[in-house]
Amino acid sequence: MKKIKFFADKNFVIGAVNPNIFSSFIEHLGRAVYTGIYEPDHPTADEQGFRKDVMELVKSLNIPLVRYPGGNFVSGYDWTDGIGLKADRPVRLDLAWRTTETNQFGTDEFMDWAKKSNLQAMMAVNLGTGTPKEAGNLVEYCNHPGGTYWSDLRIKNGHPEPYQVKTWCLGNEMDGPWQICHLDAVDYGKKALEAAKIMKWVDPSIELVACGSSGPLIETFPEWDRVVLEYLYDHVEYISCHRYYENFGDIDDFLGSHVDLENFINTVIHTADYVKAKKRSQKTMYLSVDEWNVWYIKRVKLPDWDIAPPLLEDIYSLLDALVFGGLMCTLLNHVDRVKIACLAQLVNVIAPIFTVKGGPVIKQSTFYPFQQVSTYGRGTVLKTIVDSPTISTNLYGPVPVVHSTTTYNEADGTITIFALNSDREEAAEMATELRSFGNIVPIEHVVLDGIDLDAVNTPEEPEKIKPRMVELTGNSQELKFVLPKASWNMIRLAVK
Ligand code: AHR
Repeated sequence: MKKIKFFADKNFVIGAVNPNIFSSFIEHLGRAVYTGIYEPDHPTADEQGFRKDVMELVKSLNIPLVRYPGGNFVSGYDWTDGIGLKADRPVRLDLAWRTTETNQFGTDEFMDWAKKSNLQAMMAVNLGTGTPKEAGNLVEYCNHPGGTYWSDLRIKNGHPEPYQVKTWCLGNEMDGPWQICHLDAVDYGKKALEAAKIMKWVDPSIELVACGSSGPLIETFPEWDRVVLEYLYDHVEYISCHRYYENFGDIDDFLGSHVDLENFINTVIHTADYVKAKKRSQKTMYLSVDEWNVWYIKRVKLPDWDIAPPLLEDIYSLLDALVFGGLMCTLLNHVDRVKIACLAQLVNVIAPIFTVKGGPVIKQSTFYPFQQVSTYGRGTVLKTIVDSPTISTNLYGPVPVVHSTTTYNEADGTITIFALNSDREEAAEMATELRSFGNIVPIEHVVLDGIDLDAVNTPEEPEKIKPRMVELTGNSQELKFVLPKASWNMIRLAVK
C-alpha cells in the first residue's frame, strides 16, 4: 500500500468558497431543454411542462446559477423568438447544432423553471448575429421594473416582477472559428465593450463575463484574453474559461487532466494580472470557468435538422467520474480567483442527469462527486499539502498519486477532504495531519470506486455506480484513511 502524508492548517486559507462555483448550464442543444427539463407530455410534468422528476434531481445538486441559453446556440439566437404566445413563435434553423428550434421554450419559461428549481439564471447574450442594442433590450426585458417597451412586454407576457438577473455573459466562445459570426479579439473587444456599456446603462447592478479563450489549445490563447481584457477590464467582473477533457486512450494521462486545468487557470490569472499591471488598476479580475466537464468531442455527429435529437449524450463511466472529481479539486483550490464555474451541462447533454423521453431519469456517475462537493465543499478552502508518490504520465510528467482539496465549514464545525487516488494498482494509506484544529472526530468516509472502470449507469441498471461508505479505522490521535485504488473519496470530520 502506498503511504501518503496529508497536511492542512486552519490558518492557511486559500479563500472563501463562492457557491457560484457549483453552477451549471442548460443550452438549447439536443435534449437538454426538450425532453430534458421540459416535456409537457411526461407523466411527471407540471402545469408548465417542466419534468418534476428532473427538477427534484436538479434541486438535490444545490446549484446556485444555471447559464442559459447557450453555448454555441446563443450566437444565432434571436431571444424575441422565444417569448409571447407559444402558437405564434417561429420555428427556426439552429445553425450551431444543425437542428430545428421550435421556440416552445424561451426566456420566460426558463425563468419560471429556474425559480421552481431554487436557482438563479446566468444569461448569455448573442454577440454573434446579435447586436449590442438587442443585448440591452434583453436586459431591459428581464430587469427593468416596467413602463418601457420591453419591460411592459414582459409584464404583458405574464411576469409583472422583474427577474433581476445579475450575471450576464457577453457572448459565447467568440474566439472559436466554429462560432456563428466569430470575431477576432480586437473586433470582439470593441463589440463587447459597446454591449457592456449599454447593458450596464440599462441596469447598473448587473455583473458581466467577458469571453475568454474557449480552451488552452486554441492558437489565439492567451493573446485573445490579453487583448479582450485590455478593451474590457474596467467594464467586466469576470473573464470566462472553457475546458473539456476526454480519454484519448492513455488512462494515466486522462486521470491527470486536473494538471492541465491547473495550468490553464494559472495562465489566465497571470494574463489578467498582466493587464491589471499595465492599466495600473486596483481591480482584480475573477475567472468564470463557465464550461468544464469530461466531453467526448470526437463522438459528436451533427444531425440533419431534427427537432431535439439526442446529441452529445455522453454516458459517463466510473473512470470519467474519477477524472471529474480531480477537476473539482482543482477548481476548489483556486477559489481565490475562480468565483463562478458551470458544469457543462446539466441534463442529457454531457450531463450528470440523463432522461428517457416519456420514461425515467437517472443519475450518471458524475452526479455523485458533483453533489458531494456542492453539498459539503462549503466555507473556506485550506491550502492542502499532500506528500505523495507520483505516477509518470506522458502528457504531464510525474503526477502525484493523490490529488486533493480541503474545505473548512466553520459554521457547522466540519472539515471535508476530497481526494482522488489515481493509482489503478494500489490503495493509498493517507496519514492526515490537522493538528491546528485540536480534537477531531471522523464522521464518514465515502468512496466511489469499483472493479470495472468502464462501468456506467443506465436506465436498466441505474445504480451500478454509486458511492459507498467505508469503515473508519483511524482515531482522533492518529487519523489514517485508506483510499482504495482508482477511487474518489470524501472524508468528513467534526471539529470538537
Ligand atoms: O457545451 C457544449 C458546447 O461546448 C457549447 O455550446 C460551446 O460553448 C462549447 O464549445
